[in-house]
Amino acid sequence: MADTSYYVVVTRPILEVALQPLRERFRVYVHDKPAEEGPLTEDELIAIAHDADALMTMPSDPVTARVMDACPKLKVIAQHAVGVDNIDLEAARRRGIVVTNTPGVLTDSTADFAFALLLAVTRHVLHADRYVREGRFKRWETMLMLGMELKDKVAGIVGMGRIGKAFARRALGFGMKIIYHNRRPTNPTDEYLLSARYVSFEELLEQSDVISIHTPLNKDSYHLFDEKAFARIKPGAYLINTARGAVVKEDALVEALKSGRLAGAGLDVFEHEPEVHPELLKMDQVVLAPHLGSATVEARTRMGLTAARAIIAVLSGEEKIPNRVV
Ligand code: DGY
Repeated sequence: MADTSYYVVVTRPILEVALQPLRERFRVYVHDKPAEEGPLTEDELIAIAHDADALMTMPSDPVTARVMDACPKLKVIAQHAVGVDNIDLEAARRRGIVVTNTPGVLTDSTADFAFALLLAVTRHVLHADRYVREGRFKRWETMLMLGMELKDKVAGIVGMGRIGKAFARRALGFGMKIIYHNRRPTNPTDEYLLSARYVSFEELLEQSDVISIHTPLNKDSYHLFDEKAFARIKPGAYLINTARGAVVKEDALVEALKSGRLAGAGLDVFEHEPEVHPELLKMDQVVLAPHLGSATVEARTRMGLTAARAIIAVLSGEEKIPNRVV
């Protein structure tokens, strides 16, 4: 039986349909810091959450050990996202705080967006749009904005989890050849269905015409794409990142784009999000987005409901907590 005195803090407005089940059971506070003021700081998070029994958090919230110590009643942190790199998981484990996330409900939306970036960058979609709006379209041109056809090109996928596989299905539909790198090979059935070949990271860099990043951020993937990696990349390749910015060392990325080693990049995430490297802002061969991978009504509805479900499970004392990370 839910205890209606429990206090749930949601750090950012989410779709009302997902708040409803929480409002029916608990006291709920939804914080609404204006977007122009940037992400919550640790102090701001403490100020809104110090009394909370449950917290629903977003990827930019700094859920540190200090925040946890300042929230002595906290029983559960339900991340409204699949990535949990903003949460000190070890600190939560030590304090007996449950952490959950939302895997499997944003897979297709994120893979769609990675593909949207890929098409935008290989076919100059944004540049073309600007060209027409600026009144520069005077006749059909033979050499204007020549792009790269995807059929028979090699898509290299780094991180073959749910989203990596969904990206591979889309790439296969476009006639691409799939290679991938992961901590270990995925199951043979998926490899067969996706016609995907497991390769070393180095081979992936050397053979891919397009690299799409789908690995979580952790100590092994931090700056995986550094100067050394970019020096090995196939000249003229494209890089797509809808995972986490810090998987790529942004200074090295900028150099690879400047030198032409990389033909272009589609970036939904940034190393120092929400800051964007100033050089990237000047480059026409780069398409930038404000972390929109999961931004569909369908995915955000499921993410909200999944996070709400986890809070209900913990505060109601259920034995099985869905999507438990810690
Ligand atoms: C996630 O779920 O980690 C995404 O980055 C949010 O869009």
